[in-house]
Amino acid sequence: MKVLVIGGGGREHAIVWKLARSPLAPDIYCAPGNGGIGEIARLVDIQVDEVDRLLAFARTEGIDLTVVGPELPLSMGLVDRFQEAGLKTFGPRRMAARIETSKVFCKELLLKYDVPTARAEVAEGIDAARRLLDRRPLPLVIKAEGLAAGKGVVVAATREEADRGLDELSGLGEASRRILIEDFLSGEEMSFLVLTDGERALPLGTARDYKRVFDGDQGPNTGGMGTLSPSPLIGQDLEEVILKRIIGPTLRGLSREGEPYRGVLYAGLMLTSQGPMVLEYNARFGDPETQVILPRLQSDLLALMEQVAGGGLPSTIDWRSEASVCVVAAAKGYPGPYRKGDEIEGLDQVGQSEGLFVFHAGTYRQNEKWLTRGGRVLGVTALGNGMEKARERAYAAIRQIRFEGMHYRRDIGLTKSGQTIA
Ligand code: AMP
Ligand code: GLY
Repeated sequence: MKVLVIGGGGREHAIVWKLARSPLAPDIYCAPGNGGIGEIARLVDIQVDEVDRLLAFARTEGIDLTVVGPELPLSMGLVDRFQEAGLKTFGPRRMAARIETSKVFCKELLLKYDVPTARAEVAEGIDAARRLLDRRPLPLVIKAEGLAAGKGVVVAATREEADRGLDELSGLGEASRRILIEDFLSGEEMSFLVLTDGERALPLGTARDYKRVFDGDQGPNTGGMGTLSPSPLIGQDLEEVILKRIIGPTLRGLSREGEPYRGVLYAGLMLTSQGPMVLEYNARFGDPETQVILPRLQSDLLALMEQVAGGGLPSTIDWRSEASVCVVAAAKGYPGPYRKGDEIEGLDQVGQSEGLFVFHAGTYRQNEKWLTRGGRVLGVTALGNGMEKARERAYAAIRQIRFEGMHYRRDIGLTKSGQTIA
């Protein structure tokens, strides 16, 4: 069996690693992949937005299953094109992926189908947004409609912050043609993932993402500086509420307004005093949520994905009992312009023991050396008996890794106030 994974970050390394452990023993290709992925899969030198070339490759190579990691190819209709060519593909079609690719579509759908979310208004263009801003209560949240690689959301506590935030968003071009201005929600955040056939949903784990670059949730937003799983906030009752009040009506809405959503659906939730509310949806696995969720997965990911790509849905998923923590090592300057091409040392000492993983996000290999190439360079994930053990193991491992300008948060796996999570 031949599998093609599209993408080249830590998320895709975790997906490829898990697929490679399948009893079906697949041949795995990854486009474009990265240094770490190259150790366990064949790298294909095609970028994620080169849909024609990816399609030609999949046909020539006789790929049996394609798995899409990032949102960009989903927004370009890659899944539609592959399916029309008769290729089995894991991921939502373009119309369904709008739940992520258009925040306006998402918000309108949530409001129409009575899914709890922050109230919002839509402005056509920056000038209209500026006028709207003046009459909304503070704090408020400003969001660009389109894909913005984590740079499309500004939380503003003052008028000055709101004005500055709007200036930043105006630099995003087409993505900020329409702008959402929404109420600020307070509470604890949780990432909640499901596998779905468009009608039914099966929970695929929870996580907490640490999005700000510095300890104590300070500094600018990033793609994610670390994660833990499962979320300490999840329990049977809350899971039922989320499935019934949030996921169920969202899937119904998608089927009626566009087309059924098949694949993995990721809800970014705020647990407020009035219950869980949707901050956003992603039409794919999260990064770095995937790096903590997949190591806890006992079931065969390949079998799960094949079933969903074929229009079905598995009945159960098995999990390991351990908790997991992932700490991301980033390059100097990230999330702004960052250093590249530095040698990474210490990788050989780490990653050989059970329940410890180094997922590469931005690395490549040259002359037997590992070099940096991305803002997020790698993520060290550890499983442990309880969050504290997992956390200790992840930090013990990342301390052995070094590269010029490397930085990482010291508080991944702790609560907002710096407490250990039991
Ligand atoms: P999003 O890309 O929509 O998930 O937004 C990125 C981050 O901005 C979220 O993880 C939250 O921390 C924050 N955020 C987004 N929307 C809101 C909101 N309505 N209230 C408070 N924080 C928000
Ligand atoms: N970690 C958030 C995301 O993948 O969008």
